[in-house]
Order: sequence, then C-alpha cells, then structure tokens
Amino acid sequence: MFSKKIGIDLGTSSFRVCSSENKNIYSEKNIMIVNPISDEVVFKGNKAFEIFGKEGNELKPIKPVKNGILQETLYQKELLSETVNNIIGRNKLIRPEFFVSIPLKLRESDKNSVSNLLEELGARSTSMLVPEILLSAIGLKLPIHRSTGLALVNLGAGTTEIAIMSLGGVVVGDSLSFGGEDLDQLIMDGFRVSNLEIGKKTAESLKINFGSAEVIDINAVSDVKGKDLATGKIVSFPFKIDLIRSSMMPGIERIAESIKQVLEKLPPELASDIMDTGIILTGGTSKLRNLHFYLANYLNVPVYRVEERPENSCISGIQYIISNSEVLENNYYLK
Ligand SMILES: Nc1ncnc2c1ncn2[C@@H]1O[C@H](COP(=O)(O)OP(=O)(O)OP(=O)(O)O)[C@@H](O)[C@H]1O
Ligand SMILES: [Mg+2]
Repeated sequence: MFSKKIGIDLGTSSFRVCSSENKNIYSEKNIMIVNPISDEVVFKGNKAFEIFGKEGNELKPIKPVKNGILQETLYQKELLSETVNNIIGRNKLIRPEFFVSIPLKLRESDKNSVSNLLEELGARSTSMLVPEILLSAIGLKLPIHRSTGLALVNLGAGTTEIAIMSLGGVVVGDSLSFGGEDLDQLIMDGFRVSNLEIGKKTAESLKINFGSAEVIDINAVSDVKGKDLATGKIVSFPFKIDLIRSSMMPGIERIAESIKQVLEKLPPELASDIMDTGIILTGGTSKLRNLHFYLANYLNVPVYRVEERPENSCISGIQYIISNSEVLENNYYLK
C-alpha cells in the first residue's frame, strides 16, 4: 500500500496544507493564543487571528514561524495536527511522506526544527524540504527546465525570496528576512511619530486599503482609530493616505535593492535573458498596489505579477509535485 503524501507551506502569516488524496487546499492563519500560566491553547488559527490584538494581558499570542523560520515546533504541531490527522485517517501504521516549503539558504539547525516537527506529526524518514521559491515556480508552471534564465521573487509576510532559475535549479538567489508584516510595522512606526499607537491588524488593513509603492494622490485624507500616546485616549486620527506609502518606502527600497544585487551577480548571458523575460512577482505582498511598476522603474527590467491568488503559488507547486509521481522520480532539483 502506498503511503499518503502531505504538502505543507509553512508560512509566516498562514500555513497551507494539501495531500495526494484530493485537490483540496487547506489554509489557516499561523497563529494561536495561549494562556501562558497553564500553557492551555485558547484559540487556534483563523479564530486566534480574529482575536489577535484584543486578547488582554493574561493571554499571549504565539506565531510559530518568524520571518520564514520555524521557532516554536510544538506549538506548530498543535496548529497542524488536526488537519494532518484528518488526512492520515485511521491507519496510523502507514506513515505519510511530507513535502514542506523552506526559505532559500536555511541554516541546518533551522532545517532540523522542521524535520523534528515532521517527526512529531508522524512522518516517514523520506520527507523532503524544498525551497519555497522553487515550489512557487512549479506552482506557476514556469518553464524552469529550459536554459533560458527566469527571475522569480516571492514576497511573503516574513520573507522575500529572490531567485534566478535555469535548468531546473536556482542559479543565484537570496532570502531576505523581510516581508509584508515588516511593512505593517513601518506603518505603525509612521503613526508613532505623530504620537498615535495603532494595532498590527489595523496597520495591515491600512496597507491593503491605502498602500501603494508609488504616489497615488498626495492630498487624499482618511482617518484611523488609535491610542493617543500623550493622553492614553482612543482617538479618531485624520491622516494623509500618502503617509502609508512614505512610511513603507524604506522597506520597499530594501526589497528593490536586494533584487538589484542578485541581478548584478548574474553572468552576462543570464542577465541578458532576464532583461528580455523580466521578473515575475508572487506571494501575498506582490499584491501591494504599484509595486511592479516601482520595481520595473528601479531595476530597469520588465516586472510582471501573478494576478490570481499569488499567495497560493507555493502550495500549488507542492500539490503538483505530490500528485505527479513522475515529477518525483525524474526531477533532480528535489533530491
Ligand atoms: N492587497 C495587498 N496589498 C499588500 N499586501 C498584501 C495584500 N494582500 C495580502 N498582503 C500581504 O501578504 C502577506 C501574506 O502573504 P503570504 O501568504 O504569501 O505570506 P506567508 O506565506 O504567510 O509568509 P512567508 O512566505 O514570508 O513565510 C501579508 O503580510 C499580507 O498583509
Ligand atoms: Mg510564503
């Protein structure tokens, strides 16, 4: 009897799970709220995210993955075990094989944390850890086996992965511990300058609703609720929406500069391929308004973004691999 294959995209903001059994993709916020005294898990996943920021001092939010790196193995197991056990079913004797996304250049000790998690979840010893960027390229059905270079950037919540791929592998790549949640933090810092404290979720909504990598309307205004740091009172604070862009700009420049440095390391033939084929953006943060225009100007290279559910590119890649046994048998980049 064949063992089941389970795919996990272990993301900073969300985890996603798929299996060789069907085409379903299970996605949940990667967060839980615990009682630190009893260590009791009070809320998990999407429910925990709903409460996040309002949990009060006696409860503590835990995000097991920070900047793409698994930090809390046992809490992560707690979040995944129900979904995984549903897939494994009753027969626990046949251990599943896991396929899990990891950042590029992950340290051995951090890979071991992921392996320990899989062991906790009942994995067979043949499980595989594959770079998220490669999985995203497979999910997007990019022709990475050709000799023509392809540039893909995965902009997530806690990481930015940059890779130039050719002949089925990553030729040059970089992984930045910086993503959408760090942009949210910059927005919070931007309001703090005006003595206003806003929550992480408010910052994320402002980014999604008003954020842009280029100026849209310098005079447009809106208002946001937050805590006046001088009086401690909750106030409705009027602000120019361009504050969202200007607060995020140092972070966006950091991303642009990292991509530039990867491009500069390319051998001339490959660089010339990328000038022609351009750079593809995927991951949730690639949805930031005008980011592709900004990067195209900054890098002087055409930049395209994935229009349909870019946050699912990676799990779609895992789904493809585990549902096509010939991919597993023939592809050297998974070995
Ligand atoms: N319209 C939008 N504009 C800007 N950012 C967005 C938008 N929609 C989602 N995001 C951001 O995308 C991020 C989530 O992306 P994704 O699901 O790819 O991350 P992840 O896989 O959990 O993290 P990582 O791969 O970095 O570990 C969040 O920071 C979210 O705020
Ligand atoms: Mg991701």
